[in-house]
Amino acid sequence: MADILQDRFGRVHDYLRISVTDRCNLRCVYCMPEEGMEFEPEDKMLSFDEIYEVVRVLAGLGVRKLRITGGEPMVRKNLEQLIARLSAIPGIEDIALTTNGIYFAQRADKLRAAGLTRINISLDSLRADRFSLITRGGDIHRVMASIEAAYRVGLYPIKLNVVLMKGLNDDEIDDFLMMTMTRDVQVRFIEYMPIGHDDSNWKSKYVPLTTVMDRCVERGWTALPSGEVYGNGPSQNYRIDGALGSFGLIHPISDHFCETCNRLRLTADGNIKPCLYWSDEFNVRSRIGDDLALAELFLKALDVKPESHEMAKALLSEQQSHSPTLRRMSQIGG
Ligand code: GTP
Ligand code: 5AD
Ligand code: SF4
Repeated sequence: MADILQDRFGRVHDYLRISVTDRCNLRCVYCMPEEGMEFEPEDKMLSFDEIYEVVRVLAGLGVRKLRITGGEPMVRKNLEQLIARLSAIPGIEDIALTTNGIYFAQRADKLRAAGLTRINISLDSLRADRFSLITRGGDIHRVMASIEAAYRVGLYPIKLNVVLMKGLNDDEIDDFLMMTMTRDVQVRFIEYMPIGHDDSNWKSKYVPLTTVMDRCVERGWTALPSGEVYGNGPSQNYRIDGALGSFGLIHPISDHFCETCNRLRLTADGNIKPCLYWSDEFNVRSRIGDDLALAELFLKALDVKPESHEMAKALLSEQQSHSPTLRRMSQIGG
């Protein structure tokens, strides 16, 4: 059996995104409907023991980096315990967290001590009233406190995720860019993705990220490619001349990054998702306890991973087994 996680296109997978819950304390407009969603029953969620077993086997196959996601991962009880256990697995070098930052500040020290190495925090507006509107009730002051806590415990680089939406926050691009001048953060502008639900109106919300570069030109700022921000991901990074921080562009729609994809996903209910966009899933639960069977399941999942999400669309017409995912971002973990 293969000893690395390589797919049909030669892409080696060393990065696993683990969703620990599909629940969330917020209802961001681009992610969840206002009324919330039907959440998976607790007994369908992988336990910490099960997640540990999956990661132990994958570390043996070359996985080095983990990202803990949700829903909102901080709503899962005792997250520190999971992180401590995962960070002790030989081979695991990096454990990052993607969070909305509402509950992070008060647990920053414990999470850091448990082995957390990096953090990405969602921040779609710098204005309290608008932040509350976008998140449907979130308190920006708590997020700001979490950003300060991340600095305090030394979780650099601190990445801030901004999903740009027309008419909602695209007039704040300059403010976010200004923030990078004086603060050691990486602001990542993300294109809105209509994922897991029928959003025929998505183009009306979509802001192409060329807009960010246009703003730099209009303001007379020179933005130069910046290679130094650590990450595993899809972001193209820049720094405005003289700025302390940097900014990144994540544009899965206008310029996707599938050819360098190194990531696998595990949903909270135990399904391997080889591609964010497509419905193929493989449940790990019955394989836990049999290392070989578990490894084989991951290789099977990689075998159907499409070359790109465009390619998957082409496959769709030939192979009826492929279809777009019906899961929303909060059920996958981004
Ligand atoms: P690092 O670079 O390791 O810090 O992580 P990241 O940027 O992948 O993580 P994060 O969870 O902050 O994700 C940022 C945005 O990228 C989210 O909107 C994700 O949904 C999106 N994203 C992450 N992975 C993928 C992917 O494989 N494909 C696409 N299209 N979008 C992704
Ligand atoms: N399009 C783009 N990004 C999204 N996120 C959640 N839903 C969407 C979407 N529909 C982002 C959040 C968070 C990250 C995990 O995913 O902003 O930072
Ligand atoms: Fe929750 Fe994150 Fe979705 Fe917002 S984007 S509703 S914080 S899971």
